[in-house]
Amino acid sequence: MNAGIIGMGKFHPEKIVTNHDLEKVMDTSDEWIRTRTGIEERRIAEDDCDTSDMAYEAAKRAIQDAGITAEEIDLILVATVTPDRPFPSVSCMIQHRLGAVKAAAMDISAACSGFMYGVATAKQFIESKAYRYVLIVGVEKLSKITNWEDRNTAVLFGDGAGAAVMGPVSKGRGVLAFELGADGSGGSQLYENEQKHIVMNGREVFKFAVRQMGESAVNVLEKAGLTKDDVDFLIPHQANIRIMESARQRLNLPVEKMSKTIHKYGNTSSASIPVSIIDELEAGNIKEDDIIVMVGFGGGLTWGAIVVKWGK
Ligand code: ACO
Repeated sequence: MNAGIIGMGKFHPEKIVTNHDLEKVMDTSDEWIRTRTGIEERRIAEDDCDTSDMAYEAAKRAIQDAGITAEEIDLILVATVTPDRPFPSVSCMIQHRLGAVKAAAMDISAACSGFMYGVATAKQFIESKAYRYVLIVGVEKLSKITNWEDRNTAVLFGDGAGAAVMGPVSKGRGVLAFELGADGSGGSQLYENEQKHIVMNGREVFKFAVRQMGESAVNVLEKAGLTKDDVDFLIPHQANIRIMESARQRLNLPVEKMSKTIHKYGNTSSASIPVSIIDELEAGNIKEDDIIVMVGFGGGLTWGAIVVKWGK
């Protein structure tokens, strides 16, 4: 039995903060942000909209898209580094709100790689037949741990949620292979400090990301018994257009075969990959039986890549 994505949903806060808005409150420029990162604007959640609220909205839409009911879900995995509070977990909070009464629930802390960790975990439960339907949500309210005095990081991040329901799919489709990894020795390159602010060594994270995105994408294809020529679409974590471009070039893909949503949303960490898949589906860029490579990296340091043959 193969496990695959059978439904998806996303949520973005309404408030748009453009680079020009940031120019007014810090020493930066639209030109610097666009050319160095590819970001033009990001969504920022209001005070009364916390991580669990965004997760709930995205999850509700994914369940509806999958054509199942909340009661049928066996497990909820929420990938986030910005939970409402350490406990109860965001997954427990949305389990209750969704009415997913039989679901087990836990959060995953793997920063921007969290959705990849979730998909790989769900695959194990479904293919071992322990569970049938697993809900995975990548959600972040990074604005609450952003230091708005630090232009090195404040311009990069956004808030949002992307969710997927995974379940059994037809033979040959679904998640074909995954690669997960971590290097805790790089923890000090990207972390939350005691003031609850993101601290980042941008240049070091950049170098790590360029190396790891390319390597993980190549490795995961090999695990799936595929080559670069088989790839129809690349969904890289949307952290920086220059990092994404390096992964695309490593796979010899034309520009139109890589998802680019960073200009609209900034870096939404664990939400960036599921949100990008949804936008590409809506744009008609992903079709049934396409081979999709998703690849991400993040704080930890962590990384993850997944190859999917799209469709139920
Ligand atoms: N506006 C204007 N100038 C700025 C800004 C800004 N917002 N931020 C930094 N600068 C300045 C710096 O101060 C520096 O000035 P100096 O030369 O006088 O010291 C200059 O711009 C160049 O800085 P660099 O750090 O060399 O810029 P770089 O080209 O490396 O880009 C960036 C910085 C965008 C942060 C890049 O390093 C990057 O994207 N790194 C990876 C970040 C990332 O992907 N993080 C993932 C987080 S994932 C997670 O887990 C949340």
